[in-house]
Amino acid sequence: MTTTHANPAPTEAPILDVLAERWSTRVYDASATLDEAALESALEAARWAPSANNTQPWRFIVARRDTPEFETVHSALRGFNQSWTSAASALVVFVAETETEDGSPRRMAAYDLGQAAAHFTVQAHASGLHTHQMGGFDAKAVADAFGLDARFVPLTVMSIGSLGDIGQIPEDLRERELAPRTRHAVKDLVLAGA
Ligand SMILES: Cc1cc2nc3c(=O)[nH]c(=O)nc-3n(C[C@H](O)[C@H](O)[C@H](O)COP(=O)(O)O)c2cc1C
Repeated sequence: MTTTHANPAPTEAPILDVLAERWSTRVYDASATLDEAALESALEAARWAPSANNTQPWRFIVARRDTPEFETVHSALRGFNQSWTSAASALVVFVAETETEDGSPRRMAAYDLGQAAAHFTVQAHASGLHTHQMGGFDAKAVADAFGLDARFVPLTVMSIGSLGDIGQIPEDLRERELAPRTRHAVKDLVLAGA
């Protein structure tokens, strides 16, 4: 029997269900088929993120499981990230366009790419997919493998897929997965005007 799980945020104030119910899972169902419509919607949500001067300095590499592209991205992940991501349905590389074609810096590129990633995760979770962003990967290996121009910099990799069976994973992973979600208190974050 499959044991489903969740790890909702204990919020200080009400927030949208999709925000409270999103968490970064490390438990994917390796037998699940990727919901292509959900992926398409997540990419569409990312496309509609705001950006400085509407420059849209985001690019995506979508690597579906059982493809050479997946192997390339997966092998670039560092340490622990490799072990649990092999069951994900896809790995998406989030790439920042850090300069214009004529070499002018795009100062807000990382900020804008992060907003696109946030839109992506929220839409993905609303559509029933689960996600986990990772900074632990070899960005140069990914850039080289996909022949990216130097102005395109991979900043994160996001695993996406269907939630797996928490009853079928090693104890240490289960503990991490079910560990209480924590955040700083809002009162400690608002520097002025609370
Ligand atoms: C930019 C970024 C880089 C991250 N890198 C990693 C990573 O390399 N490995 C990992 O397991 N989690 C990584 N995470 C996930 C965070 O640890 C996670 O979002 C944080 O602990 C909060 O947990 P939650 O997303 O479940 O609320 C990363 C998240 C972000 C946004």
